[in-house]
Amino acid sequence: MTLLPCLCFAQFEDAKWIGSEQSVLYADYLPQFRISWTVQLDRASKSDRLSLLFGGNDPRLMSRNMNILGVENGADESYVKLELDAASSLLNVWRIGYTTKGKELLKSFESGTLDTYAPHTVEAHCCLGSADILLDGRKLGDVVLNPMGKGGDYIAFPQLAQIGYEMEIGQRAVIHKVEVRNYRSPYGILYEDKNLRKIGNRKKPVVYLINPSHGAMPVLRCRFALKQKPVKEATLIATARGIYCAELNGRQVGSEYYAPGVSQYNKTHYYQQYVVTAMLQETNRLHVRLGEGWWAGSQTFSGGNWNYFGDQLAFMARLLVRYEDGDSTVITTQPDNWEVCDKSKVVYASMFQGEVYDNTAASSGWKKACEATLEGHLPTEGGGTQPQVCDYSSFRLLPATTSVGLHTVLTAKNVDEVRPGVYVYDMGQNMAGVPRIKMHGLHRGQTLKFRFAEVLYPDLPEYEDKKGMLMLENIRAAMAQDIYVASGDTCEVFSPDMTLHGYRYIEITGISQPLPTADVEGLVVSSVDHFTAGFECSNPMVNRLWQNIRWSMLSNFISIPTDCPQRNERMGWSGDISVFSRTAVNMADVDEFLKKHMHAIRDVQTADGRFPDIAPIGGGFGGLLWGSAGITVPWECWLQYGDLGILADHYEAMARYIDYVDSHYFDPMTGLLVQQRQWGDLGDWLGLEDEKNDKTLLFEAYYIYDLDIMRQTALLLNKTADAERYQRRLEERKQFFIDHYIDTETGMTVFSAFNQQRKGQPIDIQGSYVLPLAFNIVEGELRQKLVERLVACIERENTTDRGVRCPPYSLMTGFITTAWISRVLSDAGRSDIAYRLLQQEDYPSWLYPVTQGATTIWERLDSYTHTAGFGGNNSMNSFNHYSFGAVGQWLINRCLGIERDEQHPGFSHFILRPEPDPTGRMTHARGYLDTRYGRIESSWQINSDSSVSFSFAIPVGTSATLLLPGKAPTELKQGNHQFTESISKRD
Ligand code: BGC
Repeated sequence: MTLLPCLCFAQFEDAKWIGSEQSVLYADYLPQFRISWTVQLDRASKSDRLSLLFGGNDPRLMSRNMNILGVENGADESYVKLELDAASSLLNVWRIGYTTKGKELLKSFESGTLDTYAPHTVEAHCCLGSADILLDGRKLGDVVLNPMGKGGDYIAFPQLAQIGYEMEIGQRAVIHKVEVRNYRSPYGILYEDKNLRKIGNRKKPVVYLINPSHGAMPVLRCRFALKQKPVKEATLIATARGIYCAELNGRQVGSEYYAPGVSQYNKTHYYQQYVVTAMLQETNRLHVRLGEGWWAGSQTFSGGNWNYFGDQLAFMARLLVRYEDGDSTVITTQPDNWEVCDKSKVVYASMFQGEVYDNTAASSGWKKACEATLEGHLPTEGGGTQPQVCDYSSFRLLPATTSVGLHTVLTAKNVDEVRPGVYVYDMGQNMAGVPRIKMHGLHRGQTLKFRFAEVLYPDLPEYEDKKGMLMLENIRAAMAQDIYVASGDTCEVFSPDMTLHGYRYIEITGISQPLPTADVEGLVVSSVDHFTAGFECSNPMVNRLWQNIRWSMLSNFISIPTDCPQRNERMGWSGDISVFSRTAVNMADVDEFLKKHMHAIRDVQTADGRFPDIAPIGGGFGGLLWGSAGITVPWECWLQYGDLGILADHYEAMARYIDYVDSHYFDPMTGLLVQQRQWGDLGDWLGLEDEKNDKTLLFEAYYIYDLDIMRQTALLLNKTADAERYQRRLEERKQFFIDHYIDTETGMTVFSAFNQQRKGQPIDIQGSYVLPLAFNIVEGELRQKLVERLVACIERENTTDRGVRCPPYSLMTGFITTAWISRVLSDAGRSDIAYRLLQQEDYPSWLYPVTQGATTIWERLDSYTHTAGFGGNNSMNSFNHYSFGAVGQWLINRCLGIERDEQHPGFSHFILRPEPDPTGRMTHARGYLDTRYGRIESSWQINSDSSVSFSFAIPVGTSATLLLPGKAPTELKQGNHQFTESISKRD
C-alpha cells in the first residue's frame, strides 16, 4: 500500500478530516458481508448439531407485497442456515422461507474429520447472494443463496438482516464469538459479540434471531462565537469523504445535492466554496450530516465494490470570517472542537439502497469527533484497468466547478390502491431524484415504506398475480427503498437528500388511507441547470421524443454522465457519453461538467495508456468504442464551446491512448484491429443486428475517427510533427479499411479475416455502412455506392439476430451507429430517409417507445411492449438510458439546421442548414440554440403551395452561412431573416 502523503491543503489551513470511529450497520440493507461464528458443541449432552443463521426476518420476505417470490413469512420463519452436522461430518447450507418451497437444502459440504467438541469457526463470505462457506478458515466451497439469480443483475437476497442460531431439542453448545465484517478490504468490523453464550434447550427447539443493526449516519457539530465587530465577508469551504449537507444556525448552506460530487477520490477530490456572511450570528452552530454517497456503501453492479473508496466517512472544512477592520476568525475542522453523535434521525443513507429516517430519534451520544486519517480504512483491491484506490500518490484537491441541484418539482398525477394498503403513485414522468412527501395525522412511530420503480407490471397473463405492482427486477441489487418513522406531529414532511432514485412510480405502504396526490412530490435533481436548445415540430410524437431525450439527459447528468440513474449501475460508461456527447453539448451548457469528466477519465487511464470503459472507478467492458470517449468528448466540447483548453489539457492523455491502441489492439498477422478477442470487446451494443456485423469494422472506423481528431488537435496545438504522423496513419488506415471491409465494385461492406470462414462475404447491414460514411473513410463514387447500400438496407425488411422480422425503415442500429445514421443520410442528400426513420412508429424505431408510453429514452428500443411486456429482459432493462437519444443532435443540427462551423468553434460563425421534411409528413419545425453570443433561432414551415418559409434569428457578434437544399450558400449577418423557397419533394 502506498504511504499516504499529508492530505492537508493550503486552502484548508490546519483543517483535519474528521469523522466518527463508530461504524454504522443497517442490516436489512447490507447485501455484502463476512459473517463468522466461533462455536463449540457441548460434550456432556453429546451434542453434534448446531445451526447458524443470517438473512433472518428480511421484511421483504414477510409480506407478499414486498417480493415476487410468492412468500409471506411470519416471525422467525425465514433465514439462511449453516448447519454444522458433526455426526455426519457435513456442513449443510439451507435456505428457509425464501421461496414457496419453504425449506431448501442448497448444498452439503464435507467438513472432513472434525474434533466434535473443539471450538470451530463457521464463516460465510456473502456478496449479492453468492457465498463462500468456510470452516476453521478453510473454504469448503461456494453456493448461490439468491433465489432470484446469480450475480449483480438481480434483486439481492439475502441481506445480512437478522442473525442468530437454531438448536434442535436437547442439543447444547457455546457461542464464543460472532463477528460481521465488510466483504471488501479492509474488512472493517460491523458487528462483534464476544460474550460467551450457552445455547440450547432440553424441551423445545430454539430459533433465535437478533437485529445486529446499530448506529446512524454521522452528524458533526461545532459551536463558535464571533468577535464583536462588523463582518465583511464569511466563506466556508468544505468537502467530504461521502456526501455532506451543512447547516449554519439551522439553515442549509448552499442548495446543492450530493456535495462534493463523485470523482476518482484518491486522485481528484472536489470541495465547495460558499459565501455565508448573511447566515452568521454572534454565536453560531455549524451542523454537518454525512451520507455514504459514492465513497462508501453500494457502488456499481458489483457487490464487491461496496465501500469502494473506503469505509469511513469524513468531513473537512474551513470557515473564514473577515471583519471590516481587517481582522479575521478562522474555524477549521479539528477533532478537539467538533463533536460527532452516534444516534441521529438519518439511520442510514445510501445512494442505491435508500434513506432510513427516524423522526422519533433525537441526535444523542455526542462525543469528540475523531481524526479520519484513512489509515486502516482503505481497500487494497484493484489493479489492471481499475486503479487501486489506496494510491494517493497524485492526490489533488480542487474547487468544484459543477454541482447537482434541484431542477423541477413534479406532483403525483394519480394514485392506485393496487393491493389492499399498497398505494402506487404515478409521477407521470420517469425521473431521477428524491421524493418530498407531506403527511398529516400519523401516530408516533408509524412506519412508512417508499419503494421506487420506473414501470409497473402490465396486465399480461405472465404477470397476472403482480399486475399494477412495482416492477423492481430491473432496479436489480439497488434496494431503492426509503423508510420513514413518523414523529406524530400534526404535519410532517419527508424529503431524503442523501439518496437517489430513478423512478416514475412510488409505492407507499404503512398508511391506511392514501395520501393526497398533491402531497406526493418528486424533486428532480440534475447537474443540468437549464437547457440551451429547444425544439418543436408538427409531429407530436417527435416532440415527445425530444422531451424524452431531455429527461434522460437530466436524469443521467448527475455529477458525472451515467448510463442510467436507477439500477445498481449509475456509472460513467464511456461508450454512452461518447455517442451522446454531441447531443449533450447542444442540449445544455455542459462544458465544465464534461471537463470535470475528462479529469475522471484521465484519473483512471492506465499506466500504459488505456482509457478504461468506466470513469471514475475504471474497469468495465467495451474496448475501443468505449475508450474513444477520451478523444471524442473533448473534441465535441472544443467545437461547441470554443475553449481550446480542454484539448490542451487532455492532449497528452489522448496521445497515450492512441499509442496504447497501436501497441495492444492490432493482430500482427492480419493487421486488423482486433482488440482483445474477448466478450468485452463490444460492438454496436444492443443493436438488433449486432451479431451480423464484423465488429472489427466498427473498431477500425472509430480508430480512424480518433486519428482524425488527433490530427486536427495536434494542428490546433501547433504540434506539427504529431499532426503529420497522425495524418499518415490516418491515410494508411483509411486505405486498409477500404481494402478489407469494402467490395469496391458493389460498395457492399464485407467481412474481414477476423472471421476467416466469412472473409470477403457481404455484411450489408445498416450498422456496417454508417461509420465509414460518418467518418469520411470513403469518398467520391465509392461513397455514393455505400450510401445507396445503406439506403437499400433501410428500405428493405430486415431480421433481427433473434429472428424478428422488421418492416422497411426500421432502426436496426445499436448504441454506436444510431448516433450517426441520420446525419450520414442528410449529408448524402437523403434527408427523406432520415425523416422516415425518425417518424417510423413500428418497432424498431425511436418512436416505438413513445407509442408504448415512454417518457424517457429506453435502454432498448423494445424495453417494454404492450404485447410482450419486458420481452424476457426483466433485469437488463433500463427505462432511462440516453444513448439512443443521440438523435437529438440531428434534430438541432439538421432538422432545425443550427450547426457549428468546425472552422469557427464556439459559434463565432456557424452554419444554418435546415432540412424541411422532403416527405412532407413533418410540416413545420422551430427551435433555438443558446450560444455564448445569444440565442440562435430557426424555423421552417411547409406551405400549402409546397413552398417553404424559413425564419432565422442570428445574435449579435456572430454570423452564419445559410445552406438551403439545392441553393447556393448565402452569408447572413446578425438580425432576423425570412425566406420563402420552393424545395423539391420526395415521397
Ligand atoms: C450499461 C451500458 C454500457 C454497457 C457496456 C451496461 O450495463 O448500462 O449503457 O455502455 O453496460 O456494455
